[in-house]
Amino acid sequence: MCGIVGYVGHGDAVSFILPGLRRLEYRGYDSAGIATVSGMSLDVRKATGKIADLEALLASDRPPGTLGVGHTRWATHGRPSDANAHPHLDCQGQLAIVHNGIIDNYRELRKALAAEGHRFRSQTDTEVIAHLIERYQTNGLEAAVLRAARDLRGAYAVACVASTAPNTLIAIRRGSSPLVIGFGRGETFLASDIPALLGHTREILVLEEGELAVLTPDSVTLRTLDGLPIRRQPSTVLWDGEAAEKSGYPHFMLKEIFEQPEAVRNTVRERVDLEGPEIQIPELGLKDRELAGLNRLCFVACGSSWHAALVGKYLVEAFARLPVEVDIASEFRYRRPVLDSRVLTVAISQSGETADTLAALREARDQGSRAVAICNVVGSSLAREADGVVYTRAGIEIGVASTKAFTAQLAAVTLLGLKLGLARSLVDPALVRQVAKGLWELPDLMSVVLQQRDTIRGIAERFVERDHFLYLGRGLHYPLALEGALKLKEISYIHAEGYPAGEMKHGPIALIDQRMPVVAIVPRGSTYEKMTSNVEEVKARDGVVIAVATEGDEAIAAKADLVIPVPPSLEWLQPVLIAEALQLLAYYVGVLRGCDVDQPRNLAKSVTVE
Ligand code: AGP
Repeated sequence: MCGIVGYVGHGDAVSFILPGLRRLEYRGYDSAGIATVSGMSLDVRKATGKIADLEALLASDRPPGTLGVGHTRWATHGRPSDANAHPHLDCQGQLAIVHNGIIDNYRELRKALAAEGHRFRSQTDTEVIAHLIERYQTNGLEAAVLRAARDLRGAYAVACVASTAPNTLIAIRRGSSPLVIGFGRGETFLASDIPALLGHTREILVLEEGELAVLTPDSVTLRTLDGLPIRRQPSTVLWDGEAAEKSGYPHFMLKEIFEQPEAVRNTVRERVDLEGPEIQIPELGLKDRELAGLNRLCFVACGSSWHAALVGKYLVEAFARLPVEVDIASEFRYRRPVLDSRVLTVAISQSGETADTLAALREARDQGSRAVAICNVVGSSLAREADGVVYTRAGIEIGVASTKAFTAQLAAVTLLGLKLGLARSLVDPALVRQVAKGLWELPDLMSVVLQQRDTIRGIAERFVERDHFLYLGRGLHYPLALEGALKLKEISYIHAEGYPAGEMKHGPIALIDQRMPVVAIVPRGSTYEKMTSNVEEVKARDGVVIAVATEGDEAIAAKADLVIPVPPSLEWLQPVLIAEALQLLAYYVGVLRGCDVDQPRNLAKSVTVE
C-alpha cells in the first residue's frame, strides 16, 4: 500500500507534494521520491527511508516546476533502495510514473520490453509501466497511457507526468488501489487518499475502477480505459485529517479488518496459475528439487504469527505429507533443536523485526537448515537474513493487533503447502486447482463475513462486562481458538483462553458457568459432529455458547445461544473467514469497554527485545 500525490497548476508543485506525502506516510514509508516538470525538463529526486529523508535531500536543492508527482513506497517487489523508489522513468528520461498496486504480468512485459531494447533501472514491477507508455508514445501521452493500460494485468493506481506534456497529469486506476482528484482554483490535485488534499480543497472526485483522468490546471477530463468519455460531478468531503487517515473508520484496526479481502487478494495475486496448476513463489529461493529433498519443516514465530504457523502445520502435512514442527520462537533455542540441511525452517513475522523470531532463524541457519521468511515488510531484518522470502502483501499494518497481516499469513502458508505438495508430487493437482481457485475467490467470501459487523457488535454488547472467555476449536480451527482468545485479551484486557475442544473433558469443563461465555468454532466440516457435542456439553452445564458456524446451520442455531455465521467454503480456507469473525468480536468488545484498540496498554507493534 503506497502513497501517491500529484499536482498541476500555477503554483509550486513541491509545496503541495512534500506535505501531501507526509500526510500519506501512514500508507507506508520505506522510500520516497518526486518528479517535477519545469519548462521542457523533468527532474527526479529519490531517497530511501522516510519522507523526512526526501525533504532533507530537497532542502538545499529544491526542484522548480508547476507539475509533478510524488510517491511514498511500501515495497512489494524489490527491496527498499533509491533505485527501487518511485518515480520510475522511461528510457529517454522524459516520462515519470508512480504506482500503487501489483502488476501481475510484469515479468513477461519486462522480458518483451527488454528484447525491444528497453533498459531497466530497478527490480520493481512498476517500471514496466513507464517503458510500456514509452513504447506507445506516438500519438500523445493520453493515448499512450490508454494503450499501455491494455497490456497491464493486476491492480494499479498510476500517475504519470512527462516533459513533453508540461501542463498535463494523467492518472489511471484498475482494481482496489484508490485515487482521489481535488479541485482547486487554477490548480488540480491528485492523491491516494483524502488527507493529502485537506487544507487545499474539499471538492473531490474519486477515480473509479477502470477509469483514466487527464488533469490540467483548470480542468479534469474523465474516460473509461476504453477511451469513452465520462461525466461526474465532484463532491464535498467533510472529514477532518485524522478521520481521513482512517478512511472514515473510527480506528486503524477496523480499517485494517476491512482491508483484509484486498490483503489476501494481493498475497495470492500472480502466485496462482489455475491452468497448471502452478504455485509460483520465485522469491522462496528454493528449487522444486530442493523442496522435494526436504524431510521436515520447522515453523518458528510469535503471537498471532505462531497461530498462523499452527494452521500451516495442518496444511503442509495435508498437502505435502511433510512432517512439520511448530515452535514458539522464544522457546525454540531452549530445546536445542536437531536440524540439518534437509530441514526447512520457516520464520513467520509481520514486522520482520521480532527479536525472538530473528534469533530462532539464526539458530536454525547455524545448524545448517535452509531458512525462509513469511514476512510483511520488504527489506526487514528477517527478510534480509533468510535464504528466501514469501512476502505477504497486506500493506502497512498500523493497529498493534495483527489482523490483515494474519489472514495474509494464512494465505501464504496455504500457498506454501500447495507448493511443497506439488514439488514432492504428493498432492493431487485437482486438489491444488480446487484450493488455488478457492484462494482466488476467498476475498469475496471474506467480504460476506465483514457484512456481519452489526450482528457481531450486538453480540459483543452482551458480554462487555465479562471477566473470562473460553474459545474452543478442533483440528484446523484450534489455532483460531488461540488467535480469537489472543485478540480479545490484547485489546479488551479480558482474560481469554483458547483450547483444543477435545481437551474440555480433561479439565476446562470445570470452568463452565453462566458467567464465562464459550466461543465455539463449529463450521460444517470434518470436526462438526465432535464440536456439536462440545456445544451440548457446555449447554448441559448452563454455559453460554457463541457459535461461529456455517450460515444457515439451523441445528447449531437451536443449540447455541448466539451465532456468528460464516459462508460455506473449502475447509482448508475456513480459518481466514473465522479469523475475521473473531477479530470483529474482539474489536467491538474492546471498543465498548473503552479500550485503546489501536494501541493497547503495554503492547508494541514490533517486539524487538527478547
Ligand atoms: C498480534 O495481534 C500481536 N500484536 C502479537 O502477538 C504479534 O503477532 C507478535 O508480536 C509477532 O509479531 P510479528 O508477526 O511482527 O513477528
